Amino acid sequence: MERRPRRNRASKAIRDLSQETLVTANDLIFPLFLLEGTNQKTEVASMPGIFRLSLDLMLKEIEECMKLGIQAFDIFPVVEESHKNQMATKSHDSSFFYLQALKKIKEEFPEALIITDVAMDPYSSDGHDGIVRDGKILNDETLEVLAKMAIAQAETGIDMIGPSDMMDGRVGFLRDSLDDAGFSNVGIMSYTAKYASSFYGPFRDALDSAPKFGDKKTYQMNPANRKEALIEAELDYIEGADVLMVKPAMVYLDIISDLKANYDLPIAAYNVSGEYSMIKAAGLKGWLDADRTRDETLTAIKRAGADMILTYFAKEYLVAHRVK
Ligand code: PBG
Repeated sequence: MERRPRRNRASKAIRDLSQETLVTANDLIFPLFLLEGTNQKTEVASMPGIFRLSLDLMLKEIEECMKLGIQAFDIFPVVEESHKNQMATKSHDSSFFYLQALKKIKEEFPEALIITDVAMDPYSSDGHDGIVRDGKILNDETLEVLAKMAIAQAETGIDMIGPSDMMDGRVGFLRDSLDDAGFSNVGIMSYTAKYASSFYGPFRDALDSAPKFGDKKTYQMNPANRKEALIEAELDYIEGADVLMVKPAMVYLDIISDLKANYDLPIAAYNVSGEYSMIKAAGLKGWLDADRTRDETLTAIKRAGADMILTYFAKEYLVAHRVK
């Protein structure tokens, strides 16, 4: 036998030397849940180890994470029911705690890459990502709200918006709106291929943002479809996206790989809440080694082609490995 692949697996040294993929701090974006008020910290019941934090505590958390090498944070607001309405008006009210907090975060950490979420659902009394009329989710009318939201967020000094709603034409509409408002340097990480997934359940618990009726299948993609992701990617590319994202990640590695193969833009993957919760739950039950499963998962997402990974594991991965 001339070819014995096991020779390159024979010792830790040769395994490390021949390793193709290594997840480092430069690959990771840490999603954070922001609470109104001060000194507030509540664990998300379905996401052990993940806490909703008020601004004062979030500033400390960001500082700790930056010491570990994390440079990018995606910040989501937890909005009280009383602040929600059909048009999601708090999303572009500059006095609202989320927008105020973003400003403070950028002041404290100018070098951090701060990403925001552009979608109506956390602020919508219907719990949908678009304006609802007669039980239908309106597309073009929603774009106007998204543009107001994006500009209000850009005014706080954030670096990149993450449109996560899957309305048609949003990337181009938001690009034009940001440019017209003087924010041509604010980037767009588009949720390009975002599937109508059951893996978002714990996130909706965290934000209390589940749809009040129906589901999101008229705007988020059908999990059965692969080629459709290329249509979405083509549109986002043409419309001016800076980063193309696939979401969820673990069971969508084929989509990550397709986008990586077909586009020269950086590809992001969102290792979503339910993917985190499954691993944590199995670990707590003693059914899986959660730490090794975490590492294998992040490695596989990067191996599939993700240049950056949004993951609730970001901090603990770096604490566990102390790699940069
Ligand atoms: C909202 C949004 C969702 C997530 C990110 N932005 C939920 C949804 O579409 O219902 C999910 C993230 C996660 O599950 O970790 N537009």
